[in-house]
Amino acid sequence: MKNDLILEVRHLNSYYEKSHSDTRLFDLLPEEHEQVLRDVSFEIFHGDILGLVGESGSGKTTLAKVLLGIVKDYDGEVIHHTAYPQMVFQDPFSSLNPARTVEWILSEPLRALARRSDADWIPRTKAGRHEMVREMLRSVGLNDEYLSRRPGELSGGQWQRVSIASAVISRPQLIIADEPVSALDVTIQAQILELMRNLKEMYALSYLFISHDLNVVYQICNRVMVMQHGRVVESGDTVQVYRHPQHPYTQELLRDAL
Ligand SMILES: Nc1ncnc2c1ncn2[C@@H]1O[C@H](COP(=O)(O)OP(=O)(O)OP(=O)(O)O)[C@@H](O)[C@H]1O
Ligand SMILES: [Mg+2]
Repeated sequence: MKNDLILEVRHLNSYYEKSHSDTRLFDLLPEEHEQVLRDVSFEIFHGDILGLVGESGSGKTTLAKVLLGIVKDYDGEVIHHTAYPQMVFQDPFSSLNPARTVEWILSEPLRALARRSDADWIPRTKAGRHEMVREMLRSVGLNDEYLSRRPGELSGGQWQRVSIASAVISRPQLIIADEPVSALDVTIQAQILELMRNLKEMYALSYLFISHDLNVVYQICNRVMVMQHGRVVESGDTVQVYRHPQHPYTQELLRDAL
């Protein structure tokens, strides 16, 4: 159904400027661009957890950055049918401000939203924000005790919970998660995946889930997209693709993973 569409990407190509070690020479040369994404097309529907797999350097993070507007050198179409997506990164410690408390970090998106939107769910007072932050923190499995903590006082798993909360609190419909569990121990990985699944139901989220771990993708994604050298070489229903991989590269990835 067309109105279930969250995101459409059509014939996307992206480029990075080639770096030159000799800057004087660089001034004399025409600009050179290195293409990373090649003719990438896909869509995300409401409720999807779309896995994006592929070897290191294949362009997964670059795709996330194009979708978030961080990489601007691209052609093709990126159509957001909902509000802008939010991002969850691999390393929670580097993605969140280490000097601030959990309460500050979770309040900040609400303060920013209050400045640019008049949606009536956005709290306009400090007390209102405090209440919403507490509720959000509880949804990611942390009690009020954590409101005053700073990153140094949390485990990696707890910090990733806060980082997920900071993405979900501004009520996006799509979350882009770039290797959200790769930096965590296997038992903690399972807890965070479970949390992401629960939040998806609670807040009607969809995910683009980037991972090089095919087992993790199998656990959580209903659809999967395989990328090699910036191209999507195969995509489809996860179970279908894992059972009957069509492309030699997918077959190779699965052979190595399972
Ligand atoms: N800022 C940049 N400037 C120039 N080239 C870049 C830049 N960022 C990434 N690249 C190049 O683009 C290609 C794709 O990188 P990208 O980070 O998207 O890969 P990835 O699939 O996310 O890899 P990984 O699994 O290691 O995270 C690589 O060849 C990389 O060297
Ligand atoms: Mg990456």
